[in-house]
Amino acid sequence: MGGDLTASGTAVLPPLAAIPREIACAGDYEALARERMSAQAWAYLSGGAGDEITLRRNREAFDAIPLRGRVLAELSGGDTGLELFGQAFDFPILLAPVAYLKLAHAEGEVAAALGAAAAEAGLVLSTHASAALEEVAAAAPSRRLWFQLYVQPDREFTAALVRRAEEAGYSALVVTLDAPVGGARNREQRAGFALPPGIEAVNTRGMPQVPAHRGRRGAPLCGGILEGAPTWKDVDWLRSLTRLPILLKGIMSPEDAARAVDAGASGLVVSNHGGRTLDRLPASIEVLPAIADGVKGRVPVLLDGGIRRGTDVLTALALGASAVLVGRPYVHGLAAAGAPGVAHVINL
Ligand code: FNR
Ligand code: LAC
Repeated sequence: MGGDLTASGTAVLPPLAAIPREIACAGDYEALARERMSAQAWAYLSGGAGDEITLRRNREAFDAIPLRGRVLAELSGGDTGLELFGQAFDFPILLAPVAYLKLAHAEGEVAAALGAAAAEAGLVLSTHASAALEEVAAAAPSRRLWFQLYVQPDREFTAALVRRAEEAGYSALVVTLDAPVGGARNREQRAGFALPPGIEAVNTRGMPQVPAHRGRRGAPLCGGILEGAPTWKDVDWLRSLTRLPILLKGIMSPEDAARAVDAGASGLVVSNHGGRTLDRLPASIEVLPAIADGVKGRVPVLLDGGIRRGTDVLTALALGASAVLVGRPYVHGLAAAGAPGVAHVINL
């Protein structure tokens, strides 16, 4: 992408060859990433839907939650480990599914998976990854690789994706429900974002297109795309298709959480997609307590949206999450310094 300018109008810099000593927290990677991504790619990564009210609120809500300080408890022997779906994790942090990681670094998803494996963190690979799911699993073999599934309008194609993920060794499916259509991402639109040549959703290549919807009055919603959108019936269908644990991602209400558990979901991800799909949703951390109260420990409840440092993880666990997923911060580490940057963000 020679000749590209960054969001601040300067030339795009190459990734760093070494981790700078002055980095003190994950947030310090953001400025380094911004200098290493084109203005368009930066708008895609950092933007949200509409007026970005939900995007901002994900952070403001964490900032507004004070911690209750307690002293003199017996802390020796404590550790950060946990088990999810029979798998051991050393700490409750996974990398969230993020599409097109080659926008951040030439080695994209493979570098992210190597960074995650080095730090012994879980990673959820996006359906819209810019590398083949088999290539990522082969390059960074790990028991902690999960696959994020978008239920495609073509269900046979969807079933084939699930089989590919199983065969490649992915150990859970994270089914994202909150983005049957892309968000109205005004920041991206203003920046004129389009995928550059050579970066595409390779795992859905050759997917049959949705037939346009006919037979109702007026224009079909979203040009007919919603005809193929998943419904609760698809959860049953997916369960009949695979023995992998199925997590439902994009749950934002206690009602949907209850229905998801009844439908046999193995776990939930409380998420508003990092503020990227439906603007004006509340922050994910705001809705977590009511959801966790309703679920009552029947399945693990994970959370993402706005996690930027360890105290955010602690807050989410205190409010009922079993673990969290981190999105943009690890992509900042990836853009700044490749796989070592990803591993460093996790360690921070
Ligand atoms: C995402 N997210 C996402 N989610 C998903 O299920 N499938 C996907 O392909 C993507 N793609 C994607 C691209 C980019 C650039 C971003 C920033 C996010 C949402 C992601 O998994 C997660 O829900 C949020 O990123 C969490 O919020 P934070 O940590 O970025 O604040
Ligand atoms: C996004 C889609 C790919 O958030 O999930 O960009």
